Amino acid sequence: MKVAVLKETEKNERRVALVPDAVSKIVRNGLEVLVEAGAGQNAWFDDKSYEEAGATVLPPEEIFAGGDLFLKVQPPGDRNGEGFDEAERLREGSCSISFLQPVAHRQRLEKLAERKVTAVSMNTIPRISRAQSMDALSSQASLAGYKAVLLGAAALGKYFPMLTTAAGTMPPAKVFVLGAGVAGLQAIATARRLGAVVEANDVRPAVKEEVESLGARFIQVDDGPVQEGGSGQYAREQSEDEKTKQQELISRHVAQADVVITTAQIPDRKAPLIVTTKMVEAMRPGSVIVDLAAEGGGNCEVTRPGEDVLHQGVLVTAPLNIPSSMPVHASQLYSRNISTLFKLFLNETGLHVDFEDEIVKGCVLAHEGRLLLENS
Ligand code: NAI
Repeated sequence: MKVAVLKETEKNERRVALVPDAVSKIVRNGLEVLVEAGAGQNAWFDDKSYEEAGATVLPPEEIFAGGDLFLKVQPPGDRNGEGFDEAERLREGSCSISFLQPVAHRQRLEKLAERKVTAVSMNTIPRISRAQSMDALSSQASLAGYKAVLLGAAALGKYFPMLTTAAGTMPPAKVFVLGAGVAGLQAIATARRLGAVVEANDVRPAVKEEVESLGARFIQVDDGPVQEGGSGQYAREQSEDEKTKQQELISRHVAQADVVITTAQIPDRKAPLIVTTKMVEAMRPGSVIVDLAAEGGGNCEVTRPGEDVLHQGVLVTAPLNIPSSMPVHASQLYSRNISTLFKLFLNETGLHVDFEDEIVKGCVLAHEGRLLLENS
């Protein structure tokens, strides 16, 4: 049974699917690990450290022929102009695990199915307790929540903490976090650590306690819970009435904030539009909005995914793939997630897909030539 770590070739992707520490553990458990030459270089893990961990480092021509279980961060693709498609090199019956999105990566998924590769998605692992250690969306969202605050702080022309100096006292920055899921809670915690006064809003009242335990104020629509529905820990879409009430509530808090960090998402939907252009125009010039939901279109009407927009003096920044900007910890966490997940696909005889397992059922998108999108 050979686990193969492929190099990431997509632009701006610096993470690697397995770090050397994870390789050591896998090798100790009796599996062989192959690593494509240079796979970890953008995250500062060199080939030598993989060899010392017990892996065999191979050039691209050899790695595809040797592996059974192929690990990546980005889904198999066209190698950014290297002249071949990864899916075409994967052997029939092999397994590929990556951040494969059922809709956005439909063509790549179809190719994997044609090749009779078992395609496993880190995106569709169900958010249940048993899968927590495999939940790469959460580990990476947490990095993004942390970094969003640093980006906001760096762009703001003010201190975050309150500072008393000989030249006077500077009040603390006001940060407003919209969406208190994984990224939002980490943003709240980070902004608090930097000394900001933090407020947060989420449509799920259940998160109020967590928000408050981090030292932030929870802003809630007064007349009752906005929603209890949604699946697992995810929200459902709001009704028009709920949207109007939320907009009335948050506009005042947005206007008063120095930094707004938006992280609201509803599974399988476009990102909800929460911060309108009018709200941005009511903010003080010099304020900053960091829109983490950019990949899903953004939570702010002014957002242009991947770009910085200066709108009437307010900076609206919408960075994509933030975890890649922290490749060391992002790769370490991803390694742990993927190493735990792939154990579910192994038994004494090799690769094994047990659809009775809720996690396996949720994350296998193609198997034996068939697309299995109804499970995701
Ligand atoms: P999550 O599902 O854990 O949290 C989203 C939260 O938004 C939930 O608590 C939900 O109740 C809340 N929400 C939904 N609709 C809302 C509304 N109308 N108003 C207020 N709150 C609302 O999601 P997670 O993992 O924290 O990710 C958050 C966002 O960050 C996602 O859009 C994700 O794609 C993005 N992200 C961006 C990255 C980047 O590099 N730009 C990296 C990782 C995640």
